[in-house]
Amino acid sequence: MSSIVTLSEFIMERQDDFPFASGDLSRLLTDIGVASKIINHKVNKAGLQDILGAVGTTNVQGETQMKLDVFSDHALLNAVRWGGQVCGAASEENERYFAFDAEVNRKAKYVLLFDPLDGSSNIDVNVSIGTIFSIFRRTSSVGDLANINDFLQKGDEQVAAGYVIYGSSTMLVYTTGHGVNGFTLEPSIGEFCLSHKNMTIPEDGKIYSVNEGNLLSSSKGVQEYINWCKQSDKKTNRPYTARYIGSLVADVHRNLIKGGIYMYPGTKSAPNGKLRLMYEANPLAFIVEQAGGMATDGKRRVMEMQPTDLHQRVPLFIGSKKMVEKVHALIEELDTEKA
Ligand code: AHG
Ligand code: MN
Ligand code: MN
Repeated sequence: MSSIVTLSEFIMERQDDFPFASGDLSRLLTDIGVASKIINHKVNKAGLQDILGAVGTTNVQGETQMKLDVFSDHALLNAVRWGGQVCGAASEENERYFAFDAEVNRKAKYVLLFDPLDGSSNIDVNVSIGTIFSIFRRTSSVGDLANINDFLQKGDEQVAAGYVIYGSSTMLVYTTGHGVNGFTLEPSIGEFCLSHKNMTIPEDGKIYSVNEGNLLSSSKGVQEYINWCKQSDKKTNRPYTARYIGSLVADVHRNLIKGGIYMYPGTKSAPNGKLRLMYEANPLAFIVEQAGGMATDGKRRVMEMQPTDLHQRVPLFIGSKKMVEKVHALIEELDTEKA
């Protein structure tokens, strides 16, 4: 039997990737791993406890909050707050960011942004859901309270990002800018174990993931790309296969492994689409780029965008390089209204 490498062991081993690292980022990643096990435990009990369904409130985006959204939000906030490695945190579920005022937090170097439960409309129907996280080094002085500028940083400034998928097995995938590694939760020992070393996304693929219900209100370029995916052509392996779970994490995870493109373009009524730059697009872009793929808004790299609002949305085209390049070419050719 080959030896098992747990998430904590791997994180500690990789600490040497960072000259002068003090171990704070390693501890923060470990805290997130622990929080995700707590969330996983609850997600697995979703049918048995009085946890399914809406909590009766709406979040800042006007969406119905699910009970598990709120539970997961609290689990992550508590883990990183008491872990003491972050000076602040922001999540999709809260209008404002939190600046933690305990001394240990004021002295901390990092901020965390996260989507506690992604794809939460899928909870009640037993379909895969996830957690997404993004870590930045603070820009304010150590010792101060965190401020908004600590959070509004370009994706290129991320020091780490990852996701957890609660699927047929539970996996945690993360990057610190030195490749992408995936860990599968082994329930018998309660540990994430290295299962997908140095993940790379195929340069080309044949899966396209998009909510085609929005097709008619999408731009000409996007419509033409989807038509192109459906046409028959032996040389380019078309028609492609359509797969859309409705959980971003699950769709991106599958495409990362098999090759494919996920698209959530802007529409007439929502020009910036639905997905959030800070909690969804940036962290997944960091992972997919590290794996050799691309992540753009249809024109430029997601991680180059200067955020102006914690909850801002962004069109997203993410996945295998050749597929993203193809949709870009059609957008460039057919969408005359330049941003
Ligand atoms: P969340 O559950 O965090 O609000 O995210 C849902 C997102 C994403 O996971 C998914 O890909 C997308 O919404 C699906 O949207 P549509 O139902 O509009 O296709
Ligand atoms: Mn989400
Ligand atoms: Mn969510």
